[in-house]
Amino acid sequence: MSRILITSAIPYINGIKHLGNLVGSQLPSDVYARYARARGHEVMHICATDEHGTPAELAAAKAGKPVAEYCAEMWAIQRDLAEGFGLAWDHFGRSSSQRNHALTQHFAGKLAEAGLIEEVTEKQVYSHTDGRFLPDRYIEGTCPNCGYDGARGDQCENCTKQLDPTDLINPRSAISGSTDLEVRETKHLYLRQSALAGDLEAWIDSKKDWPILTTSIARKWLKDGDGLQDRGITRDLDWGIPVKRGSEDWPGMEGKVFYVWFDAPIEYIAATAEWADANGLQDADWQRWWRTDKGAEEVKYVQFMGKDNVPFHTLSFPATIIGSGEPWKLVDYIKSFNYLNYQGGQFSTSKGRGVFMDQALEILSADYWRWWLLSNAPENNDAEFTWEVFQQGANKDLADVLGNFVSRITKFCRSKFGEAVPTGGTYGEAEEAVIADLQIRLATYEAHMESIEIRKAAAELRAIWVAGNEYLQSAAPWAVFKENPEQAAAITRFALNLAALYATLSEPFIPFASATLREALGSGAKWPESIAETANALPEGHPFTVPENLFTKITDEQREEWEERFAGTR
Ligand code: MF3
Ligand code: ZN
Repeated sequence: MSRILITSAIPYINGIKHLGNLVGSQLPSDVYARYARARGHEVMHICATDEHGTPAELAAAKAGKPVAEYCAEMWAIQRDLAEGFGLAWDHFGRSSSQRNHALTQHFAGKLAEAGLIEEVTEKQVYSHTDGRFLPDRYIEGTCPNCGYDGARGDQCENCTKQLDPTDLINPRSAISGSTDLEVRETKHLYLRQSALAGDLEAWIDSKKDWPILTTSIARKWLKDGDGLQDRGITRDLDWGIPVKRGSEDWPGMEGKVFYVWFDAPIEYIAATAEWADANGLQDADWQRWWRTDKGAEEVKYVQFMGKDNVPFHTLSFPATIIGSGEPWKLVDYIKSFNYLNYQGGQFSTSKGRGVFMDQALEILSADYWRWWLLSNAPENNDAEFTWEVFQQGANKDLADVLGNFVSRITKFCRSKFGEAVPTGGTYGEAEEAVIADLQIRLATYEAHMESIEIRKAAAELRAIWVAGNEYLQSAAPWAVFKENPEQAAAITRFALNLAALYATLSEPFIPFASATLREALGSGAKWPESIAETANALPEGHPFTVPENLFTKITDEQREEWEERFAGTR
């Protein structure tokens, strides 16, 4: 039994996430956390919303709401959707929390003390009408390349050319439309990551067991071009964490906030502090997860994220932690994911392409999605969602194999023996063979879960379900019953115990069905040690009820309807 800290990349606040986002961090994080809990470890499972930055401001403006109000609403929506998907966080925090303000300012202060922050003077566009500096994407004008008149200061959407705000012809503020603009000098803070490149490289090199996807991205950033670049950590925005050195004002930094990618990962820590606050606990209670001088040296810390997030977690956030010179916990294992595509293209939040979390739950219960997404997780390659493979996969695994097994054995038992585990008969060769097979499969399943090989773990779980189905098919208690009711009773008892075993083993992947099944069978949640023992966990005479159809099949009509409904953009 150990302590495991698990964080999932914190989703941007600006809208409801799609299934590609979900399978890239939050879902696998949840599977691992549920598994770790089931094995008796003490787990802290953390997520939050990532609320700062230009996209948050723009989304709020589009929704016609003050940004603080917009964020509060979207946070609640995301929290509820996460709950709908069974994402079992210990805390779902907010990067705009007071805890994160204080911690982010604290880290900046420590980095400055360590000489790792540089003040750099830059030229930037100031809008007199708006009374503020404008970030690149808040400036619009005519593209010098193609003449499109809605080009933004960072890029022309029409011809994709990367731009500087000063390249634009007739530039105007995207906020007010004002052309009363001026290029002014302004100061920004840079984190001297280059000074930490050696430490970071040695640290990455020491992670021999990390997934290639993770280390190759980190190494590319360390080695490519000029190596690890210093990074601007401040922005001219209204919404964000005000730039301070600890609790002191920072001369020259008035009206500026920290860059969203500086404060977002610090929210992992802050959210754990928010958890303590929400539960009436002390600082020591969250610090034992995060401070190696306060008990966290025995914590195993695992992060989950999509591959686009890897540089920030392998280099930038560790630079903040190491550079602070304080004993904060560094991540022990980073599990990263490729992308899930949608029907031959990409899922896209900005284009509204694909299936979004709220829509998914409107049409099917969470376990269908959890199972398909996880058993097809984009681990070693990008993966592809099509309605056809989704229908096939979900129907076969959930309805034909698991659902069918449970429904057949519980209904058969009810009709021949009543709603209690039948008495009489003994397990024979066939049952011993299944026990031996499942003992090996259980070890394989556990090994994949421990190494966080989600697809392989799902495949093994499926094989465990299949083994029960095949056993039932060949043992055929409905045929045996006529000649030998005692033996039919033993077969039925064995199969009912397998169903209880499945409820426990499947819980990380399909927690809702697992709970339904456990309730119907009156079985416990104890993780099996030996399958032989588990095969008798439900004793003779133990009452049960037949669970409602665990999984109904997705029909062709449904598939066609959804395929059409989700073909365009939201
Ligand atoms: N919001 C980012 C995204 O969705 C992830 C931030 S992860 C954190 O890609 F580390 F910064 F918190
Ligand atoms: Zn252009």
